[in-house]
Amino acid sequence: MEIIYLSQRVLSLAAHVTAEDCLHMSKARQSEARKFPNRAAAMEASDDAPLSPPDGKTIGDVIAQRYNRRDIVKGAFGVAAATALLGPAALAARESQTGTGTEVFSFEEIAAGANKDHHVAKGYNADVLLRWGDPIRADMAAFDPQNQSAEEQAKRFGYNNDYIAYFPIDGSSHRGLLCINHEFTNEELMFPGLSQEAMPNSFTEMTEDLTKIEKAAVGVTVIEVYRDEGGAWHVDETSTKNRRITANSLMTFDGPVTKNPDRLKTNCDPACENLRGTFNNCAGGHTPWGTYLTAEENIHGAFWTDDIDANYKSTLDPGDERRASFERYRMPSRWQAWGKYDARFNVDKEPNEPNRFGWIVEFDPFDENAVPVKHTALGRFFHEGAETVVSKDGHAVVYSGDDSKNEYVYRFVSSGRYAPGDKKRNMTLLEDGTLYAARFNSDGTGDWLPLVYGQGKLTKKASDGRYESQADVVIDARLAADDVGATKMDRPEDVQPNDKTDRIYVMLTNNVSRTVDNTDTANPRPKNKFGHIIEMVSDGGDFAANTFRWEILVRCGDPGKPESGASWNAATTADGWFVCPDNAVVDHEGQLWIATDQGKYWQDKSKHADGLYALETEGPGRGTPRMFFRVPVGGELCGPCFTPDGTTLFVSVQHPAADGTDGYADFSGPSTFENPATRWPDFEDGMPPRPSVVVITKKGGGKIG
Ligand code: FEO
Ligand code: CA
Ligand code: CA
Ligand code: CA
Repeated sequence: MEIIYLSQRVLSLAAHVTAEDCLHMSKARQSEARKFPNRAAAMEASDDAPLSPPDGKTIGDVIAQRYNRRDIVKGAFGVAAATALLGPAALAARESQTGTGTEVFSFEEIAAGANKDHHVAKGYNADVLLRWGDPIRADMAAFDPQNQSAEEQAKRFGYNNDYIAYFPIDGSSHRGLLCINHEFTNEELMFPGLSQEAMPNSFTEMTEDLTKIEKAAVGVTVIEVYRDEGGAWHVDETSTKNRRITANSLMTFDGPVTKNPDRLKTNCDPACENLRGTFNNCAGGHTPWGTYLTAEENIHGAFWTDDIDANYKSTLDPGDERRASFERYRMPSRWQAWGKYDARFNVDKEPNEPNRFGWIVEFDPFDENAVPVKHTALGRFFHEGAETVVSKDGHAVVYSGDDSKNEYVYRFVSSGRYAPGDKKRNMTLLEDGTLYAARFNSDGTGDWLPLVYGQGKLTKKASDGRYESQADVVIDARLAADDVGATKMDRPEDVQPNDKTDRIYVMLTNNVSRTVDNTDTANPRPKNKFGHIIEMVSDGGDFAANTFRWEILVRCGDPGKPESGASWNAATTADGWFVCPDNAVVDHEGQLWIATDQGKYWQDKSKHADGLYALETEGPGRGTPRMFFRVPVGGELCGPCFTPDGTTLFVSVQHPAADGTDGYADFSGPSTFENPATRWPDFEDGMPPRPSVVVITKKGGGKIG
């Protein structure tokens, strides 16, 4: 989900205003509120609130200041010469690699565009495997969206599927377990009868029952799938491994916070023995030892306050030391009505409940009774994902981006070493280790800065009592990263290591709040609407090294428009370029694939639907994207996941019909349950659009790409 932030004032108007409040509003405030027809629109709009560079400089002026003349001549504007894309990191890692030309991928690119259906490259099948509401057990009735209940939803596939991981059964690429995240809910598309006219006051229409269904629709699904002799994939509804994990499921936690758990204690659960739930599960990871990691991202929206003017501020006293933490984590944001009925999500009643979320959560998908563990050593922030590799000397290294504007890229290095074949022991690796935040230096070098209590500013004395132990450092990882001087980035999404090349790719999706004065070489564009991708190489090719080199692999945008500041390989086609990179995956041959999420204002960005792109990183073709799949209008592509043999690709189509349909020519209006821009994938009257997993295979068999 793409979220940026409006002012407290606009959000409180758009998303949190009750009918009674409206009676007391000035006319100006009411008019401001009406700009946003629903909660999701307000959230998305907050992403893209237009911001102009204060001194009126153009993007070109700024890039010219930041980049030398040679770079510009070689194509920092518009279509780039391939050599301009070969910077120090690539050159350092290049010795053992051979040029692959522009024919690394043989598929025929699809046309960019936007319509009601999905599209895949010629010669491939793209079939819907699993839709919101599908049963995950045998003997359940077909989904009836007019008769939803929380009890039913907890046994059905959840909403807005995101990250996908495939766990082979007996090493097979034809039978395995899928773990699939469910990030958030779109009430007006899920539930009948939520009127658009009343949407600025939408929480007046959100009943307690509806909020319970929402809490059962997020989290994770584990489900067994198999490929039949004819090559088609199916869900095995009889598998005992199938399960749902929701915002109510029992969890536990380990790491530094277990030693100082005070800030996790709540009135409902003072002993911290009854941690409940996971939500806003965006991307994630699968570990080398065969477990699943789910990342808790935009947690703040779930937290409520009865005081609508308190958004982004604690209701705590100004002198309360916890207030800085609330503000830094935008808590409470009141984007959902859960806390209206459930004291757990009302910070006026339970100010410590937010500290139970924002973590990386691990469980073994093959143990259907496993209680997921929140690993506090990996820090608390809005984790986009968590991908793991093993360093040269056996430490588990986990990369994670914090998806908010001007937040950080993080890395965790385990104290213990990976023991091949010993899953139980490996499942303790993320309990203890060192968390780092990245500093990108202007000369193309970089440093991983440790977030360790007792070092530098991270002491009780130096912080005026903010940090009293490592528990405070990890709970307030954002504040700690501020204190060590990490680099504020353009919304870090997926951070994807490639263990075949020892390189790491950082998706920086966009950041319209970056001004001319706070651009830097790692985030060079003010009002960065289109995003960019950074390539990092750890020194010595060791993921555990504390220094690295980096460069910008591509600056996204339309290469046909010099004013976009885009930078691609000259071979990039009019259909191939993309904007707003979100997820990344490395395939069986070490090739990079990128999924995009433009949010509500896609028509102000690429003007076509989001999708999946192959992106060459080697040789003369370096920096060339090619479009493989695109989503139906209003959707976002996430969770690309290959089977180990590379013959099957699973993708998530999230929130079809939701984003930016008011400006979509063939529909032009905000979608609702009754009247959506597309009824993908069923296209049946009365059936709303359904977020779904699509399975892609090559016709006649063979590897994808
Ligand atoms: Fe949930 Fe950062 O996308
Ligand atoms: Ca997203
Ligand atoms: Ca994402
Ligand atoms: Ca990834």
